[in-house]
Amino acid sequence: MQYFDREYLGRPLWEIDRPQPEFVRLEEAGEIRGRVLDVGCGTGENTIWFAGRGHESWGIDFSANAIARARSKAAERGSSATFREANALSLGALGERFDTVTDSGLFHTLLDKHRAPYSESLRAVLRPGGRFFLLCFSEEEPSSWGGPRRISAHELTTTFDDGWRREWIRPARYDVRLPGVEGKAWLGAFTRR
Ligand SMILES: C[S@@+](CC[C@H](N)C(=O)[O-])C[C@H]1O[C@@H](n2cnc3c(N)ncnc32)[C@H](O)[C@@H]1O
Repeated sequence: MQYFDREYLGRPLWEIDRPQPEFVRLEEAGEIRGRVLDVGCGTGENTIWFAGRGHESWGIDFSANAIARARSKAAERGSSATFREANALSLGALGERFDTVTDSGLFHTLLDKHRAPYSESLRAVLRPGGRFFLLCFSEEEPSSWGGPRRISAHELTTTFDDGWRREWIRPARYDVRLPGVEGKAWLGAFTRR
């Protein structure tokens, strides 16, 4: 069983049982538009939040346990969110197009060699002019407690370069359930050319 599937048998540290506040604020500011795809959705809090705000909202994750839990949450809450088991590196296989794609905590789990394929995969499901928002741990977050890789703003700009226009990258927070962890993060916005 792979790492994420095992984690989802319990309650991983990133399970905060509510959407990430950065994505709530983005949606409330009108930045999340049209059909939304939440990549690496986990158990679906962000996906379900977007659906509740009137978006046609899809979540994909390669963990079968995460998707099973996301579907049962959506059913319990009467949410219209759609969940699929899929790999973020081959999103074109979904055969769908979206206006907005979000990544809450997936990018910082990727190996270096998967960054360029991920960028291409995202482009395959975003309509031209559509936007990609990404939230990942930044190099400002201390490594003392472990957790995923820390990412620099430079790494984001070099990964989402070809075929993208960088809109902005802002200091942000990625909430986790660990006392004392600030969750210093980057929130980035990129438009698909
Ligand atoms: C840190 S968790 C974040 C989950 C959720 N987005 C959140 O904010 O609570 C990262 C998620 O990305 C998923 N993931 C990692 N690599 C993936 C890949 N190549 N394809 C699909 N999902 C992936 C994991 O299974 C996990 O659910």
